[in-house]
Amino acid sequence: MRLAPSILTADFAQLGEQVRQAEKAGVDWFHLDVMDGAFVPNITFGPTVCQAVCRSTSLPCEAHLMVHQPERFFEAFAQTGVKRVIVQVEACPRLHFALQTLRSLGLQAGVALNPLTPLSMIEEALPFVDLVLVMSVEPGFGGQRFIPTALERIRRLRQVLDARRLSIELEVDGGINADNIRAVREAGATMAVVGSAVYSPTCSVEACVAMLRQALAESVAQ
Ligand code: DX5
Ligand code: ZN
Repeated sequence: MRLAPSILTADFAQLGEQVRQAEKAGVDWFHLDVMDGAFVPNITFGPTVCQAVCRSTSLPCEAHLMVHQPERFFEAFAQTGVKRVIVQVEACPRLHFALQTLRSLGLQAGVALNPLTPLSMIEEALPFVDLVLVMSVEPGFGGQRFIPTALERIRRLRQVLDARRLSIELEVDGGINADNIRAVREAGATMAVVGSAVYSPTCSVEACVAMLRQALAESVAQ
């Protein structure tokens, strides 16, 4: 299971240090939550901060664009050093064009689904993506509770990917912590976004990552 900390709940007053701490603790990617205040009721950051994060780590970074008409910004994100851009299917009526454009810019292409968006909305897109992001919270904020019905959606998507022998990354995003990451993995996810479970006021980054790894190791033992 690959771990991708979301920097959304990191301490932005020392963002570079927070990124280095997570890299040192043994994560696999960084997940950068870009929000426009229109597709979601929150505004976060744009290409400038993404570029600063990419400069602070040797690990790959993915930009999760919770943004209307995201294709307006693909060129800008291609310049930041991110390896992958994930668009929301609900914000992308011209999805084929968006995914092809991302790949033509040398980026991996990902598509995200909000918690109640039918999986059928992305089934035709599977041949054109490198990753599917299953949202397990309503996008907009870190620190929300995991929506349990996401597990059944992950299982169904895993069945579709396996039946079609597609080696696409199945990533889950929102409310994941040491208590539920085992269930997320066993449902068929291959990658987990972890925000408040890594950047927390009560636990060091190193200890948080270790707890997540410990929880995953237990699932193998049992
Ligand atoms: C929510 C973002 C998620 C979120 C994850 O809109 O897409 O990446 O920051 O944070 P946690 O893990 O705290 O739910
Ligand atoms: Zn996200």
